[in-house]
Amino acid sequence: MKSPQIKSPNYTIRPFEKEDALLWQKWDTDPEIQAHMPELRNEAQDISTQYEYIEECENDEDGYYWSIETRDRTTIGIVSLFEIDPHHKTVDLGIVIGDKEYWGKGVATEVVNTIKEYAFNTLGIARISAEVEEDNLPMKKVFEKTGFEQDGVFRNARAKNGKRINVLHFGICNTKQRL
Ligand SMILES: CC(C)(COP(=O)(O)OP(=O)(O)OC[C@H]1O[C@@H](n2cnc3c(N)ncnc32)[C@H](O)[C@@H]1OP(=O)(O)O)[C@@H](O)C(=O)NCCC(=O)NCCS
Repeated sequence: MKSPQIKSPNYTIRPFEKEDALLWQKWDTDPEIQAHMPELRNEAQDISTQYEYIEECENDEDGYYWSIETRDRTTIGIVSLFEIDPHHKTVDLGIVIGDKEYWGKGVATEVVNTIKEYAFNTLGIARISAEVEEDNLPMKKVFEKTGFEQDGVFRNARAKNGKRINVLHFGICNTKQRL
């Protein structure tokens, strides 16, 4: 699906560009960034694999994938709406702020709010879901600040650093979307 460019108050949320792949190679191998992702990567993916991924995202009929850019065109993260179910009008949301200089400055909160409004008001989505590891405190905070509520716990859902950890399920419903 072609992802449209969207502006939040301070950031531009734009479709992927080839140059983004170089940043992902850095972000994919940063242990701090990867700490709460489903898979812990140890090495960067081959650049041609990354280019293929960009193409797959562009052709994915069930998702939207964006990079997050500052107004001076520094690329600082990615955000996606994926596994859109057109019948049930549901979707999953994922976000990574890869440039750690920007952590704790409200970027994810602003971007999640903007993408949430896009999903509800433009796509007519009825429910957005997201998963977050129990000890990912910043992400839990972002969901709380953007109106998501925790509606479940997948106990022992992942193996991390030699122990099993819980994954929390968050969701937010569009009260204007009745069906
Ligand atoms: C999680 C992530 C997206 C948050 O992005 P961000 O732009 O830093 O988030 P925000 O600044 O909007 O909000 C973070 C909040 O968490 C708080 N926070 C940060 N560290 C915290 C901690 N250890 N304990 C509790 N709260 C914490 C911040 O103070 C802030 O809350 P505040 O605005 O009330 O002060 C970013 O850290 C990231 O990309 N991490 C790596 C990838 C990842 O985990 N993605 C999510 C996978 S589900």
